[in-house]
Amino acid sequence: LADKSDTIREAFRLQAGYCRDLGSPFTAGLCEIIGERLTPDYPVGARVLHWQGKPDAMNDSVPLRLAGALHALASRGTHPGLSEVYPPNPLPEKKTLWQQVRKVLIEEEDEILRWLGNPPQTNEVRRSAVLMAGLHVVAAETHFPLALYELGASGGLNLALDQYAYRLGKTEAGKANSSLRLMPEWKGASPPDAEVVIKRRRGVDLLPVDVSTEDGRERLMAYVWPDQTERLIRTREAIAIARSMPPKIDKADAADWVESVIHTTPEMGVVRVVMHSISFQYFPKESQERIQNHLALTGRHATREAPLAWLRMEGLAEKGVPITLTFWPEGTERVLAYANPHGQSINWM
Ligand SMILES: C[S@@+](CC[C@H](N)C(=O)[O-])C[C@H]1O[C@@H](n2cnc3c(N)ncnc32)[C@H](O)[C@@H]1O
Repeated sequence: LADKSDTIREAFRLQAGYCRDLGSPFTAGLCEIIGERLTPDYPVGARVLHWQGKPDAMNDSVPLRLAGALHALASRGTHPGLSEVYPPNPLPEKKTLWQQVRKVLIEEEDEILRWLGNPPQTNEVRRSAVLMAGLHVVAAETHFPLALYELGASGGLNLALDQYAYRLGKTEAGKANSSLRLMPEWKGASPPDAEVVIKRRRGVDLLPVDVSTEDGRERLMAYVWPDQTERLIRTREAIAIARSMPPKIDKADAADWVESVIHTTPEMGVVRVVMHSISFQYFPKESQERIQNHLALTGRHATREAPLAWLRMEGLAEKGVPITLTFWPEGTERVLAYANPHGQSINWM
């Protein structure tokens, strides 16, 4: 057990480094102090320090599970002492932070153990800008309305992408009067002007988040780091917009879903677009292959009047995350752009 708890403490230490590099000094400090001071003499401490499985960021992400739980509790305001040591209040002394955190780890045992049972769930709305730029290409080249199918849709915030306003290079896109405006840093040419009309939309996720419920809203907000104010505001706004047109997200494995909802029979007068961002890597290898094979098969039945598109922001290259578009009936594949993983900057090819 001593060895095991060393591994856990190391996971907290490493997570602190990632958070610092990614601009969350608060979460960095929180992970650091938990890693140093957590003890197994109360249930949450014991559960974490004796974690069954791999606690690190590439696996169970135990530090972020715990950070999410504490952020949710701090946001509820039911423990004023905890809320006081959380942003937007200034970063407290380590000792003060630990006192409040430890108190809540003990008093909210059941609630925190529940959060520890679930993986962190995020939905990065800035990726909508990347996907929207890709949809402009699809719409400009087909002139058809779109039927969207999103894989790994989480809370569906990117499925509501036509409800946000954008400046994509020199191209204005989306809904001009939206309360949420995304303006990623832009390099290179701009995507074509086009009218993106979404005729219908649907998503899938293994663990969908229902943003129309308080629990779903709280989950998506809790995993945004508490000192990333702009991200919190953007996510809150996107949830409000998504709530006004609740996205339909089925609970299933992406490959099972693709095989059952994307029919090989061509659909005239509409372009079916399968899209996803930072999700494919989480699907089992076998699901990835099945999706690829099913889309290739469906693509073979596609025609100019019944096209199929596969738009994805996945993988990591030296230049960033490639935005790839495959178009059928031709079956051509091209990289449209490279983006930063959160979609805040785009380099259009
Ligand atoms: C990092 S999140 C990205 C969410 C969203 N696409 C975004 O860009 O914000 C990855 C999502 O993939 C989902 N996921 C993981 N494995 C899956 C599978 N086999 N089938 C469907 N969804 C899956 C997770 O539940 C999670 O919501």
